[in-house]
Amino acid sequence: MSRVVLISGSLRRGSVNSAALRAVRRIVESAPGAPEVISLPIGRLPFYDGDVERSGAATAVQAARALVADADALVISTPSYNGAVPGVLKNALDWLSRPDGASPLAGRVVAVLSASPSGRGAIDAQPALMDLLDACEAVVVEHPPVAIRRADRRLDAAGEMSDPEVLAALRGLVDATFEAVAILAGQRRSALA
Ligand SMILES: Cc1cc2nc3c(=O)[nH]c(=O)nc-3n(C[C@H](O)[C@H](O)[C@H](O)COP(=O)(O)O)c2cc1C
Repeated sequence: MSRVVLISGSLRRGSVNSAALRAVRRIVESAPGAPEVISLPIGRLPFYDGDVERSGAATAVQAARALVADADALVISTPSYNGAVPGVLKNALDWLSRPDGASPLAGRVVAVLSASPSGRGAIDAQPALMDLLDACEAVVVEHPPVAIRRADRRLDAAGEMSDPEVLAALRGLVDATFEAVAILAGQRRSALA
């Protein structure tokens, strides 16, 4: 495992989803072999436009594709906006689902979590996100759902996710992600043998 890419579905500076991913970063970076962890800033991507794609796609899109193509795994944390993923995240996944037949998401291990100040932890956005990832042929990490409820109350004075219960759940998700990457690598090795 050499590279993990993090995607927050929220652009807000004080985002609880981005705080959850900063905690994921700390967990991954403390793992043996410490893979490189890179955040993908999806707010810089233009709206998907087939004409822009046909004319060579924007630099930010090409950079995002290259980053994902080089990653062993992605971790996506999403809020729920009216029961679905925010448009900015859907837009990023639409770009990453292209070009048709050569999406960098295809065969990529992706772990999903959600966070919200509400009592449901934005869990209602997770099925739609998983359906989207399935459509992109990503390998969604199998793990009991991680939905951080009352997420704003789990932050410390520095705005970091420090709640032990949350950190334990995130550690479990990171472990499952590492395992999924190892299993997939083993399967690819045996397919080549
Ligand atoms: C357009 C919009 C729709 C929202 N819909 C929901 C919702 O359906 N369920 C929910 O729990 N929170 C909803 N919220 C509140 C978000 O969960 C809350 O703003 C959360 O903090 C966003 O995540 P972030 O802190 O990572 O930005 C909505 C917020 C916005 C702006």
